[in-house]
Amino acid sequence: MKLKDKSALITGASVGIGRATALRFAKEGAKLILLDIDYEKLIKVKDEAGKYTKDVLIYKCDVSNEEEVEKVVKEAEGALGRIDILVNNAALWRGWRSFLDTPFSEWRKFIGVNIMGVVYMTKAVLPGMVERNYGRIINVASVAGVYGNGNMTHYSATKGAVISMTKALAKEVADKGVLVNAVSPGTVSPSENLDVNFNEPSDFSYIGRSGTDAENANLILFLASDESSYISGQNIQIDGCRRKM
Ligand SMILES: NC(=O)c1ccc[n+]([C@@H]2O[C@H](COP(=O)([O-])OP(=O)(O)OC[C@H]3O[C@@H](n4cnc5c(N)ncnc54)[C@H](O)[C@@H]3O)[C@@H](O)[C@H]2O)c1
Repeated sequence: MKLKDKSALITGASVGIGRATALRFAKEGAKLILLDIDYEKLIKVKDEAGKYTKDVLIYKCDVSNEEEVEKVVKEAEGALGRIDILVNNAALWRGWRSFLDTPFSEWRKFIGVNIMGVVYMTKAVLPGMVERNYGRIINVASVAGVYGNGNMTHYSATKGAVISMTKALAKEVADKGVLVNAVSPGTVSPSENLDVNFNEPSDFSYIGRSGTDAENANLILFLASDESSYISGQNIQIDGCRRKM
């Protein structure tokens, strides 16, 4: 098992890539700390993950709320002793609007969750990692942060920030045993049943289909495991060879 005795905190774990990552990590023996604003769905994920690992803590937590984040991280560290892996996955992305039609309130909301959420989580978890000289931080960004998606200027800007934050922080903590990487999904088709190889055709990739939550979880697992011991400061695109449109 690739994550035996490791404890991993995943944000936005109720659905999609976050849920798939939680289940994948559970199967690899990790102890889980799962956060989301949607607590009802988190309970379901706890039940699913509980089939593979006995330690699953769930917390209703808004990552854009600094106090909530600090409280939850303290509690979780108290309960499990430490956090080895942090997956900053929670984000807002739905809602396409032209730049001129995007109110400042929407910009602030996206910046609050997608950028400051990553900042608050990282600031709360990193000291313990540095102290123990071991940590893995995986930020879920997006191809939007690399190429820029039209009618998603605010979203694209936040994901670009996550990618550059990843690269900068990696340099600060590389000699402290902490590896920091980003993954940038392209188009993803959510599949409730992660064992099904979901194959939705897509013009956005040269491979000709969307990716799946499970495929993204596989990459995140690799970066969270000791198999990625010489990789840091990278943004790895998982986009089926993206057509840049
Ligand atoms: N799905 C895609 O096509 C796609 C493509 C590129 C990048 N991504 C990125 O992948 C990540 C996951 O996306 P997804 O589509 O799998 O999930 P999603 O957008 O369907 O769900 C995200 C989860 O985050 C939670 N969440 C939202 N705001 C939160 C907050 N303030 N605090 C805590 N939790 C919060 C939601 O309740 C939800 O459970 C995101 O970072 C997204 O930007 C997704």
